[in-house]
Amino acid sequence: MEKLETLIQELYQEGTREKNMEVLSQIRKLAKEEKQFIIPVGDANGEKVYRRLSLDDGQDVFVAFTTQAQVDLGQATETLNQSVMDVLHMVHDTQGVSGVVLNPWKDSYFLPKVLIEMILDNKNLESEIKVVKGDITTFDGDCIVNAANESLLGGGGVDGAIHRAAGPMLLEECKLLNGCQTGQAKITKGYDLKAKYVIHTVGPMYSGKHEDEHMLRDCYWNSLTLARKYDIHTIAFPAISCGVYGYPVEKAVPLVLKTIADWLDANSDYTMKISLYCFDEETTKEYQKYTSYQGE
Ligand code: APR
Repeated sequence: MEKLETLIQELYQEGTREKNMEVLSQIRKLAKEEKQFIIPVGDANGEKVYRRLSLDDGQDVFVAFTTQAQVDLGQATETLNQSVMDVLHMVHDTQGVSGVVLNPWKDSYFLPKVLIEMILDNKNLESEIKVVKGDITTFDGDCIVNAANESLLGGGGVDGAIHRAAGPMLLEECKLLNGCQTGQAKITKGYDLKAKYVIHTVGPMYSGKHEDEHMLRDCYWNSLTLARKYDIHTIAFPAISCGVYGYPVEKAVPLVLKTIADWLDANSDYTMKISLYCFDEETTKEYQKYTSYQGE
């Protein structure tokens, strides 16, 4: 429970979507581990009932404490221990109750029903974005994304590395795809790669025009959408267009992270674990500015 309290304190300091997702993931983890909250109770007609707080909007909320120390911050009250999962289901199933307030006396966290549904649905809380420094051909997940060119007939950079690692069969299948337009994505098998699939996408050759952003955004969006069609849940991207195609890394990285966050929001019913592979120090440093770098 201490980790949950720490995450809530950090959420107060940072206030980011990512940090809130960490809090929700921790609550879900505690529920899965059958941990317990401490619940204030009262007597009604000789029965123990959960204490509820009435809000100005006429809605009620339940209250739960993570530790006895939190309970002791307020006036003495009768309590009982209740599993986190039962509390979540109870709040979710009770009419006229809009959520549960954790630790109302210090670093309180309001958990509305809609987020309880996300936790109980336990789908999209597992989605994540990870920055990895290394060679994308070693990725041991469902799918690797290739920064290809419109011919799809191979090339240098990561395109060359992926074709070398996948073997000649990859090129044979690519020949059947009839090329790929910039911003679009096409899929093949992974052959000798550990990954089952390769999604080939063609990034924009950087020109400084506004169009470049739309094309680069399309590469990530269309690759993720195609990956979902194939029930892919772990996917690795290189820094598309940031090599031969000259896209400045400092311009690409924030756009890439926003596109992925938008796609995860638009696909919140689907779990997608995304690894962003950096092959050089400059790209790694750029990503580190924006994410809690978990390097490998
Ligand atoms: N693993 C991960 N990333 C890599 C690897 C690798 N093995 N090799 C290169 N990279 C990185 C580069 O450092 C760069 O940051 O991939 C990023 C994309 O660089 P390029 O491969 O040059 O791709 P791009 O800029 O999109 O240019 C595409 O290059 O290789 C040709 O056929 C390709 O014509 C196309 C053009």
